[in-house]
Amino acid sequence: MVAKVIDGSAVSLQVRARCKGRVDRLRSERGITPGLAVILVGDDPASRVYVRNKGCACAAAGFHSEQYDFPGSSSEAEVLEWVRRLNADPRIHGILVQLPLPGHISGDRVLREIAPEKDVDGFHPFNVGLLAIGNPRFTPCTPAGVMALLDSEAVNPEGRHAVIVGRSNIVGKPMARLLLQRNATVSVCHSRTLDLAAMTRQADVLVIAIGRPKMVTGNMVKRGAVVVDVGINRLPDGKLAGDADFDSVLGYASRITPVPGGVGPMTIAMLLQNTVSAAEHSATMACEEGSAVQRPTPQGQGAGRTARHGFKLWRRYRF
Ligand code: GUN
Repeated sequence: MVAKVIDGSAVSLQVRARCKGRVDRLRSERGITPGLAVILVGDDPASRVYVRNKGCACAAAGFHSEQYDFPGSSSEAEVLEWVRRLNADPRIHGILVQLPLPGHISGDRVLREIAPEKDVDGFHPFNVGLLAIGNPRFTPCTPAGVMALLDSEAVNPEGRHAVIVGRSNIVGKPMARLLLQRNATVSVCHSRTLDLAAMTRQADVLVIAIGRPKMVTGNMVKRGAVVVDVGINRLPDGKLAGDADFDSVLGYASRITPVPGGVGPMTIAMLLQNTVSAAEHSATMACEEGSAVQRPTPQGQGAGRTARHGFKLWRRYRF
């Protein structure tokens, strides 16, 4: 058996074209241009490349995009202050703080500062909670991209054993929730898993996100499995490699994503999708808010103020 190689670049172009259609409609019908702000702290070369690619994709889809580069010596307070500014900026519908942050800045603290309705990464605890109860608002981009790739191949995880290698908040945990929502039987493996190969060999769908180049080899893969490789590792010779040993897995899997050209482009496409959704949602909320202000209240003037305040509270907690 030689696996079919899933073309993530082609699928991502389809998603991006659909996003562009939604952007054009928002602009012509509502006068709104979706805006994404990206904050990069420090000079991690890989993060720099990711952020540049995100900016290019935004421009191609007709977004308004802003990038803020902070030196690695910036304080947590400075980054928080910038997030608050972006929260209040009506031109910005999505905010992304590129991770990892330098060690002296708490990623948790910064992510919690992002307004949940602008959290297009889906990392704010509010959005994490919504995903956990099976009612996601913004789904983290990489796992959402994996699901879109499975759908593009008509791979239905229902009833199948999905094994995820890696338990990060960015990929592993949300991936498990998405697959569970689609009725897969899900196992999550990690660095303390005693017999990793025994687990991966059971997988009908194997998602690998551990950040170790070529770690999963063909003899760790069940014949006919669908293998999704989330890893992007730079080898000493400068080439990129995934977490799967592509050449050896090719002989076992039925389908496999390549690196590069697999999950990576999908992550960016899903970020655009989330940002368009945020902009559409803000347009709808502005409309509803307008009509809420107009709505007469039976209790008189004072009650009118209370009703509007109540609406705002409800809006905050709707996410
Ligand atoms: N670093 C690696 N992946 C991601 C991602 O999806 N979002 C952010 N903000 N940072 C990342």
